[in-house]
Formats: sequence, C-alpha cells, structure tokens
Amino acid sequence: TQVSTAEFVKSSTCTEDCPSDGLPEFALVGRSNVGKSSLLNSLVRRKRLALTSKKPGKTQCINHFKINGSWYLVDLPGYGYASAPQELRINWNEFTKEYFLKRETLVSVFLLIDASIPAKKIDFEYASWLGQNQIPMTLIFTKCDKRKKKKNGGKRPEENVEDFQNSIRKYFSSVPPWIMTSSVTHLGRDEILLHIAQLRNY
Ligand code: GTP
Ligand code: MG
Repeated sequence: TQVSTAEFVKSSTCTEDCPSDGLPEFALVGRSNVGKSSLLNSLVRRKRLALTSKKPGKTQCINHFKINGSWYLVDLPGYGYASAPQELRINWNEFTKEYFLKRETLVSVFLLIDASIPAKKIDFEYASWLGQNQIPMTLIFTKCDKRKKKKNGGKRPEENVEDFQNSIRKYFSSVPPWIMTSSVTHLGRDEILLHIAQLRNY
C-alpha cells in the first residue's frame, strides 16, 4: 500500500480537461488552509510535490498526481476563503461541484476538516451537500498534532472531531468513514493508504 512513485500530471480548470486514462482517483477537498496539499505531500513522502502556503488560496486548479502509475490523488482549491474576490470564489464552487457530480473515475472524496478548531458552518454545508448528492466520502481530520488553545475554542482535537461527527449525523444514514491525521507527525498516513487500497479493490 506504500507510495513508490508520485508524479504531477496536470492542472485542469474544468472536468473536461482532466486526464482521460480512466484510472481511479481520490480527491482532497476542504476549507482553504485545512492542509490538503500538506496531506498529499505526507502521503507521498515528498516535501514539495504539492505546493503549500501559510496564506489560504494557494491551490487554484484541479491538480492530478499519478501514484504508482495506477491511481490519482487530486488536489483541489479550498472553499470558504473569505478574502478571495467574490467572482473567483463562486467559480471555485461551480467547478469543484461540477467535478464531484461528473467525474466518473472519482472513487471517493476526502473531506478534510481541521481538528484543531471547531468546525465552521461552511464545513457542515459541504458535508451535507456531498451527503445529499450521495457522493462517496471519507472524513479526514487534519492538524491533530496541534494542542488545544483558548483562542481556538479551548477543545482538544478529539473533542472537535466528536462534535463534528455528532452534528453531521443528521445528513447521513451512517457516519462516513473517518481518519485522524497530522502532516507534521504523519499520523494517519498508513491508515489512509490502506483505506485507498481497500476502496480500489472493490
Ligand atoms: P489551499 O491550497 O490554500 O486551499 O490550502 P491547503 O488546504 O492546501 O493547506 P496547506 O497544505 O497549504 O497548509 C496550510 C497551512 O497549514 C500551512 O502553513 C501548513 O504548514 C499548515 N498545516 C498543514 N497541515 C498541518 C498539520 O497536520 N499540522 C500542523 N500543525 N500544521 C499543518
Ligand atoms: Mg493547497
């Protein structure tokens, strides 16, 4: 289940532009700055394959990374980045939603939620949208290495995770699979790769 090769293939601005070789893919989605690109780098054990930044809004296209020559990890732009111009933001939502609905080779969406802070309204909106559209999803909780801080709501990552799961029960008949991760300690890396291997073998 380990990654032996990882190569950037292309950046696309719409679903029609995406690679057409039919390989299965797994898409990383979540609020800007939640750690999508960092998680991708952690999974492939490379520091800068996907570019990351302290400033939200770094990733702006649909980026395909081919893993072991046989499946894709897809880095998507974040949602909910308040400082992006309104027009850009709507465009992101349109093209990522279109991608979720139309991309036939998409096996599962990995919805990343920052476990170091209480989940935001837009996280619930995305989770419920994916649920309502019956898009297969895995919850990936990020930044689990961070300690609780008063200014971040004063809860431990485990408590934020539990709160989020309790709140989304109403959108799903059963809570989606979930994995706790950290791109700093690489917590959850093997679990995600195993999960991907299992999904690919269905
Ligand atoms: P956009 O491309 O803007 O949507 O952001 P992104 O979701 O790709 O986030 P990115 O990976 O660029 O990380 C954003 C910031 O969070 C960076 O400063 C990272 O170093 C930090 N970060 C990401 N993952 C973790 C983590 O697991 N733990 C900690 N402590 N920091 C993290
Ligand atoms: Mg990114």
